[in-house]
Amino acid sequence: MRSSPDIVIHTERLTKRYGKLLALDNLNLDVQRGEIFGYLGPNGAGKTTTIRLLLDFIRPTGGKSTVLGLDAQAQSVALHRNIGNLPGELSLWNQMTGWEVVRYLGGLRNGVDERYVSELAVRLEMDMTRKVKACSSGMKRKLGLIQALMHKPELLILDEPTNGLDPLVQQTFHKLMREVAAEGRTVFMSSHNLPEVEATCDRVGILREGRLRAVERISDLKQVRFRWMTLRVSGQADPTRFETLPGVSDVTHHNGTIRLRVTGELDPVIKAAAQHHVVDMAYEEPTLEEIFLEYYGEDKQS
Ligand SMILES: Nc1ncnc2c1ncn2[C@@H]1O[C@H](COP(=O)(O)OP(=O)(O)OP(=O)(O)O)[C@@H](O)[C@H]1O
Ligand SMILES: [Mg+2]
Repeated sequence: MRSSPDIVIHTERLTKRYGKLLALDNLNLDVQRGEIFGYLGPNGAGKTTTIRLLLDFIRPTGGKSTVLGLDAQAQSVALHRNIGNLPGELSLWNQMTGWEVVRYLGGLRNGVDERYVSELAVRLEMDMTRKVKACSSGMKRKLGLIQALMHKPELLILDEPTNGLDPLVQQTFHKLMREVAAEGRTVFMSSHNLPEVEATCDRVGILREGRLRAVERISDLKQVRFRWMTLRVSGQADPTRFETLPGVSDVTHHNGTIRLRVTGELDPVIKAAAQHHVVDMAYEEPTLEEIFLEYYGEDKQS
């Protein structure tokens, strides 16, 4: 198997079946050192399955994976020392405080850098003196992040890390990940939220029904970005004004509400809208599915 030092995660035809269900189908993936890789897909796509395979929590039905140059199965114990992992469903010890949790986990490794933990706790606004049972789900998530980060691992494997975090803490999380990557460490994070992946990651892999459909740089995906605009107008609505505009398609009109798809500059749309009495305007992000269709076309869906 390939063991280039610049490739931190390498999978070859990695496959997991649960009975008849193909949860992960022949995954071939390379994640580079120092990148933040977003693993995006809808519920049930196989994200957590992939993560559990990489961490050797479950065994593959076929294929293999190398993580940090080590065989993910045969050398998983050595591997775990250099990985920080945030599971999707974190179970911690209810009677312990945050500090007790990190000291306990630190004891299983080579101790814990309490100054660094304190710094993380301040940045994530986490009260480490609180018992786990008295923590909200967001606080438990923060504690999960702290324990994943605290030994400065070479690789972070995070399953939906920002789930349940409020927007300010999400921003702190993004900054932390940037810092990790700037130090040449690597982040592999799952998400089903495209704006989050867009804001945080360098590359994204799109997984759907167990199959990796695309791996793209975020900057490339953005070039095909479009948005939906909805205009509610009073008085006479003239949807035909929009149909011929550059970058506009899929114009529909119903009861004074005009909906259209816009790619590129907004200026022509705004000018055409100004010919109407606009009561309200909404500008929506496309869904992951829509971007996916835009990028790869319906023919590649099956
Ligand atoms: N232990 C299991 N036994 C049977 N089926 C399973 C098991 N674990 C997962 N699956 C199935 O495998 C598929 C992939 O599940 P997985 O948890 O990897 O999805 P996911 O992408 O993480 O989804 P989510 O966004 O909901 O977390 C799903 O159809 C799921 O029902
Ligand atoms: Mg999952």
